[in-house]
Amino acid sequence: MKFFVDTADVAEIKALAETGLLDGVTTNPSLVAKSGRNFIELIKEIAAIVPGPVSAEVGATDFDAMMAEGLYLSTLAKNIAVKVPLTPAGLRVCKNLSARGTMVNVTLCFSAAQAIVAAKAGAAFISPFVGRLDDVGHNGMALIQEICTIYKAYPAFTTEVLVASVRHPQHVVEAATMGAHVATCPPAIIRQLFNHPLTDKGLAQFVADWEKSGQKILAA
Ligand code: E4P
Repeated sequence: MKFFVDTADVAEIKALAETGLLDGVTTNPSLVAKSGRNFIELIKEIAAIVPGPVSAEVGATDFDAMMAEGLYLSTLAKNIAVKVPLTPAGLRVCKNLSARGTMVNVTLCFSAAQAIVAAKAGAAFISPFVGRLDDVGHNGMALIQEICTIYKAYPAFTTEVLVASVRHPQHVVEAATMGAHVATCPPAIIRQLFNHPLTDKGLAQFVADWEKSGQKILAA
């Protein structure tokens, strides 16, 4: 399973890249606005830090403008995935850019039917938003299960399931159990994946016992 970080905070991206476990980055207009940074400069900087796919979302919503923005974004770096909304115009852009060899991440997916049309449009990634579905009383992970089942039934679909709007580590564990290809998580949730109180407790005990032993592995 691949881990993407869902942020436009360069310091967080650098810190997580140092773990060696970061496979890509997703951004969206809200995250970019929160960063206060110039979008183009920001995307170039992120794409130079992380070699994996970096999602950069179009701002327009009509076909011609999205297409022009997508073409421009795709020139910023080799690892850009142009992000488009799951609308008829967005899927048309997806089909066009994918045919040119550009990775496209189709975002704002809330149903299996939408995931099917995105795969048919050649999307590199489909982004179902599990947390936002949970927020309105639906079952976000049930949608992931449904999409994984459908995609597996059609080997010609090469679209990767990118679980988005992740709210807690259990979303990641369930996504992995279902065979989803990618989870994109806020930095805090990626950090939570590493932690367990019994790890901290056990380590403190080992450190104390090792000091008591008076031994050293390497001479000072
Ligand atoms: C995905 O690409 C989106 O940027 C993101 O996961 C949305 O998450 P949110 O529902 O927490 O805003």
